[in-house]
Parts: sequence; C-alpha cells; structure tokens
Amino acid sequence: MNDIPQKDSVDSTSPRDGHHLLPIYPRYPVAFETGAGVFLYDDKGRAYLDLVSGLGVNAMGHAHPRLVPIFREQAGRLVHLSNHYDNRHTTAFADRLCDLTGMAGVFFSTGGTEAVEGAMKLARLAAWDGFGGRKHAFVSLQGSYHGRTFGSLSVTGQERYREGFAPGLPDIRFVERNDIAGLRAAMSDEVCAILIEPLQGEGGIWECTPEYLAEARRLADDYHALLIYDEIQCGLGRTGDWFAYETAGVRPDVLVIGKPMGGGLPLSAFLVTEELFHVFRLSQHGSTLGGGPLACRLGLEFLSIMEGEGMLHRIHQTGNYLRQQLLMLTKELPVATAVRGRGLLQGLEMSIPGRPLAEAALQRGLLLNVTQGNIFRFLPPYILEQEHVDQAITILHELLSIASDAEKACASSVPTDQK
Ligand SMILES: Cc1ncc(COP(=O)(O)O)c(C=O)c1O
Repeated sequence: MNDIPQKDSVDSTSPRDGHHLLPIYPRYPVAFETGAGVFLYDDKGRAYLDLVSGLGVNAMGHAHPRLVPIFREQAGRLVHLSNHYDNRHTTAFADRLCDLTGMAGVFFSTGGTEAVEGAMKLARLAAWDGFGGRKHAFVSLQGSYHGRTFGSLSVTGQERYREGFAPGLPDIRFVERNDIAGLRAAMSDEVCAILIEPLQGEGGIWECTPEYLAEARRLADDYHALLIYDEIQCGLGRTGDWFAYETAGVRPDVLVIGKPMGGGLPLSAFLVTEELFHVFRLSQHGSTLGGGPLACRLGLEFLSIMEGEGMLHRIHQTGNYLRQQLLMLTKELPVATAVRGRGLLQGLEMSIPGRPLAEAALQRGLLLNVTQGNIFRFLPPYILEQEHVDQAITILHELLSIASDAEKACASSVPTDQK
C-alpha cells in the first residue's frame, strides 16, 4: 500500500490551541514515554527502532543498565555544584579525557554550541595576547554546522541557517571542503583560527581528506593561527575510532566534543594543548551548569563502557554491515543514489525528499533522521546489532521500492519531448 505522505505533517500549532512550544522543530506525530536499549516506546506502548539516538546523544541506547544506577545513586548525593568548588567526578573525567586525547586541559560546558563558542573565544584571546585585536578572522568550511548561538552560527557554512540573523561575527572566511588552494588563498595574518569538522554530519556526511587536514595544520602553524576540530558529532567513538581525525593523524590545537559524553545529560567540552592551558585567565570564561558531578560521573561511566565492552570494535563491525546493506539498496533502487560515512555515522542520499519517507518509516516503527532534505543520516546507538540493521533495511527497502516505482511511473507519463 502506498501510504507515503505526499506532504510533510509539519507543525502548524498555536498557543490558542494550548500549544506553547515554539514551532521551531518540524516534530513528527508521535510522543514517547519510555526507552530501552535501541527501542523507544510511545504513549500507547508501541515500539520504535531508534536510529537517531537523540541526534547522537544516546550512544548507549536508552536506560542503559550501567548508567541508570549511576543516575539514581549520584542524584541522591550531589547533582550540581558551582565551578567554584571541586568534586572528584569532574576532575577525574577531565583527567580521563586528557589521557584519551593527549590534550592538557579541559573546559566543560553544557551543549555543543557553547563549547564551540568557548573554543572561538580562546582562539581570539590567544591571538589578542600575541598580536593584538587585528588577528580576529576565522576560516571555516562551506557545508559545516557548528551550532546556533551567534558565534557558532557565524562560522556555520550554510547560508540558510544564518539568513535573518545578520550581522554575525565579522571576517568569517568560508572555504570549500578539500580545496587546498582555496584554503591557502583564505589565509592571512588576520586569521586567528581554522575551524573544521573532520567529518561533516549535519552537512550531509562529508569527510575531509588527510591531505586537507595536513595542509590546514601547516597553514595554521605558518600563520600563528589555531586549528580547531569540531568533533561534537563525529567524535567519541561515532566513527569506530575515538575521533574522526585519527585516520588522518593530524592533531588539532583545540578539540570540541559533546553529544554522548554526559550519558544523556547536557555536557560538552573543549580541550586544549599545553601551550594553550593558560590562555583564559581567572574569570575570563564561565558556564554555570557545565561539568557538574552527575554529568561527569555519567561521562566516566560512558568511557568505561566504551572500553570495557569493546565498543569501538562493535561500531566498526555494525557500521560496516549497515554500510553494506545501504550500498545494496543503492544498487537495486533508483531513488537511493549514494552512501557515505564511517562507523555508525552513515548517510544514504536519495533523489527525492526524505521527510515523507521518514514519516512512513515512523508508521512502521522505525525512527530515521533526514538532513539536507534528501539524506537519511544514520546516528544509531553504539549498541545496535545486525538484527536491528536487518529490521531497518527491510522497512527502507519497502519504502524506497514504492518511491522508485512512483518515480518510474511519473517519468514514463512525461511526453518524450519533455524529458
Ligand atoms: C558538529 C556539530 N557542532 C556543533 C553542534 C551544536 O551542538 P548543540 O546542538 O549541542 O548545541 C552540532 C549539533 O548537532 C554538531 O553536529
């Protein structure tokens, strides 16, 4: 049965009907009550296979048996503290993150955009200290996504997100991903940092080449600028490596992370090398809610599960299996045009809009995320298994077959001289 909606069921609610959440997100027509593992359950108890995992936050799935007791126990002891006081979970998590990344210092914040802001402020301040205020420009990539606050929005390389909010930060120089000549041309003494998502997620699952990252490193050094990686989406195991930049072997000066690191609680961070440890002086930056004991204890447990349960290996294996299955769809079904990605960050590009298909998938008990209008972005929990991939592929195969047949029928009904 062709029940793929022809139009998005986009929210047209208003406060007059008792709806008070601003209609900013195009919400799907479902409300969830509980979650367990890779499944979510709606208010009628119906199960949905979750390949979105809260946009990459719920990496251990829902209600993970090692995270839930920590939530309970730590909530009964200490949830939040001001950063004016120490607690052992926050300091231990900072130590662990530095061991993991080879960085020397950490600043905790709450969400990705806040951590990007902090990294940008640090780059400005380091440049100010060394060269004065004229060294203020950022080089960023077209197609990138860095967040929604003014600084991170200003360096987000997608006009549609910046439209209506001008003026943003001055002198942001956007360059094409993997265009080495373009990157060289954008550099000057005014640049304080080059900001790169080594694997662009929201932008459509596009990777930077090792050569490009190596050139960015060289140019940053030559121009006394910082190289900042935004690994909020592609880091912390998502690609099957701890960090996406590892395959290129080109290290940043500042690494920004977020999403899964608080076990579901809002937690993000930027990490810096030893040379940058003292750039911020006392009280030059801050975050009331960043790095509380509960979030950091959950973060420690997240890392411990990653290591103790061989999670990187699992991500590689399940990610490769998912990729193979998606590639098979592209061979068979004309509307499925390309597969890109690594580990459990995969994209399936289509020749048609994704939202109606995602709504049809929802009706079949499968949660999918659409980015850039026509790409399914797979960000499943790391605990996904092959049987779940099979379940998802069966549904995708059915929906993409219907859509491919509809496309074919449409094309054959067009008179030949109009093709
Ligand atoms: C690469 C990247 N940077 C920054 C952000 C912004 O993070 P947040 O939505 O937590 O502010 C995101 C969110 O998806 C992201 O993927």
